[in-house]
Amino acid sequence: MDNGSSLTERPQAIVSSKINRESGRLVDSKRDLPEFAVVAHSIHKRYFGGETDLEVLKGIDLEIRSGEIVAVVGPSGAGKSTLLHILGLMDEISSGDLTVLGWKVSELKKDEKDLLRNKYIGFLFQFHCLLSEFTLLENVALPLRIQGLQSSVAQEQCRELLAAVGLEKRFSHYPAQVSGGEQQRAALARAMVAQPALLICDEPTGNLDLERGEEIRDLIWRVARAHHTTVLIATHNPEIARNSDRIVPLLDGKVQQRSGL
Ligand SMILES: Nc1ncnc2c1ncn2[C@@H]1O[C@H](COP(=O)(O)OP(=O)(O)O)[C@@H](O)[C@H]1O
Ligand SMILES: [Mg+2]
Repeated sequence: MDNGSSLTERPQAIVSSKINRESGRLVDSKRDLPEFAVVAHSIHKRYFGGETDLEVLKGIDLEIRSGEIVAVVGPSGAGKSTLLHILGLMDEISSGDLTVLGWKVSELKKDEKDLLRNKYIGFLFQFHCLLSEFTLLENVALPLRIQGLQSSVAQEQCRELLAAVGLEKRFSHYPAQVSGGEQQRAALARAMVAQPALLICDEPTGNLDLERGEEIRDLIWRVARAHHTTVLIATHNPEIARNSDRIVPLLDGKVQQRSGL
């Protein structure tokens, strides 16, 4: 990363943006990043469908320090994606206590969760999810534009970040005009452009060959360490797991006591 750029500043604080219930207005107050990005106690998740009641998470206890890179491993169907969606405020828990980036999730209204997710949480999925009718630069700019940043300012920041992931010659290409590895690098730039405090990656190398997978892993580590971003990665990739600060092994909706692959 280019150390002179504003994008590489470590977020020392969070601007807590809340929507005041009476006025319906946003209330911002600055505070330090909490020691723990995630504190989960006895998280359960059930899906109800027709006659069936499927318990997918069966009492998850998890504490993740701010700045930690954690790999969530386990067989298909273990509940990795479900857990990541919940920690990314994309899905609700059925019971338990969850605090994300210092906010107690059960106390948040839907629009507050939406706002916090947009501002502080970045996502990278197995499939890049770039919008096909927008250029790479426009795709990376989307999270900033959603936050109301002017297009020219947003695009300048995006240029810096696209260059940092090696795509300085691909600004005006459309997703279909670049390779799978390049699409995923652009998706990483988009996930990081708003400088999230928490980056959630669900099988980010699952659709890439070994070499492209390594490139993405390197880039995730580089941008996350530069920004002091907490990273949660669901993965089958042993290299990713080995290089993480900690492995959380998930089996049948529970965290196993012994770590390892
Ligand atoms: N929206 C849903 N409705 C019902 N069941 C679901 C839903 N999402 C996931 N599941 C089920 O939950 C279990 C865990 O899924 P998932 O979290 O995707 O596991 P993993 O990511 O570890 O493969 C699976 O049995 C899956 O079929
Ligand atoms: Mg999954």
